[in-house]
Amino acid sequence: MPGVARWLTSRLTPAALHDTVSHTVAVSILRPAAAIVVDRLMAAGCVAAAAEADLLIAAAPDDKSLEAWIRRREQGEPLPWIIGTMQFCGRSLRIDPGVYVPRCQSEGLARRAATLLAANGHRAVDLCTGSGAIAAHLIAEVPAATVIGVDIDKRAVQCARRNGAPLRPEVFDIVTAVAPYVPTGQLRLLPADVQRYEPRLALDGGEDGLDLIRRIVVAAAHLLRPGGWLLTELGGEQDRALGPALAVSGFDPATSWFDEDGDLRGLAAQATGGRG
Ligand SMILES: C[S@@+](CC[C@H](N)C(=O)[O-])C[C@H]1O[C@@H](n2cnc3c(N)ncnc32)[C@H](O)[C@@H]1O
Repeated sequence: MPGVARWLTSRLTPAALHDTVSHTVAVSILRPAAAIVVDRLMAAGCVAAAAEADLLIAAAPDDKSLEAWIRRREQGEPLPWIIGTMQFCGRSLRIDPGVYVPRCQSEGLARRAATLLAANGHRAVDLCTGSGAIAAHLIAEVPAATVIGVDIDKRAVQCARRNGAPLRPEVFDIVTAVAPYVPTGQLRLLPADVQRYEPRLALDGGEDGLDLIRRIVVAAAHLLRPGGWLLTELGGEQDRALGPALAVSGFDPATSWFDEDGDLRGLAAQATGGRG
């Protein structure tokens, strides 16, 4: 399955960090230890060492905490777990330890969903919401909307609530889902720190990666009004594999989207009845 090893790999790239870092640079130049922090993070294999050093230095309350945080990051612990926040769609999001770290690749799905929500009604549900990143973006972009987040993990639910995503049942215009979709056999290809720290529950999608997403398709068919939209993140060639399940559940043929490398990133499917 081409492109599979790149799934879930894009997390805090220098570009994604830029907005956060831009207002912290002045702080970092005043801290003489900044260059040392960068060197240590680079030696530990951090791709965005300079940006991460700025964030750690800006967020650490004192030098003792800074040292402890650098050590945690050197071990590969996700930066947002350490400093407690990250940027998603240009906004600050709280991320609690143990909760899946939203990937910048999911911002495309969140933005598409916000556009569709604004044009198609005002009720959305974000399945597998994790920290509530997508739900929080929808609420921020369409403030009049009712947006519900759903997750099986108590830590995620607590974190999503803190990010402003309420959790309760209704009928919806939009369903979003960045669910676990990595095929079990491909989990070993994920970056070592992802395998070591992040919950398998957030990653493992079963044999072909679509176990939970097939159930989400069925659930979305019940949750959505006719003409409502399901948006879900996918990789490899999972859009083709999911086609029959979408058709059986009453969705029109889906539209997939791809990143700049041509890799599949997600699909949007409309519940039948929207254009009649
Ligand atoms: C890949 S993470 C995505 C989180 C969030 N949507 C994001 O993009 O940051 C998948 C999430 O699905 C949740 N999850 C796994 N199985 C679930 C299930 N059966 N029902 C609801 N949520 C589930 C996990 O707890 C995890 O938070």
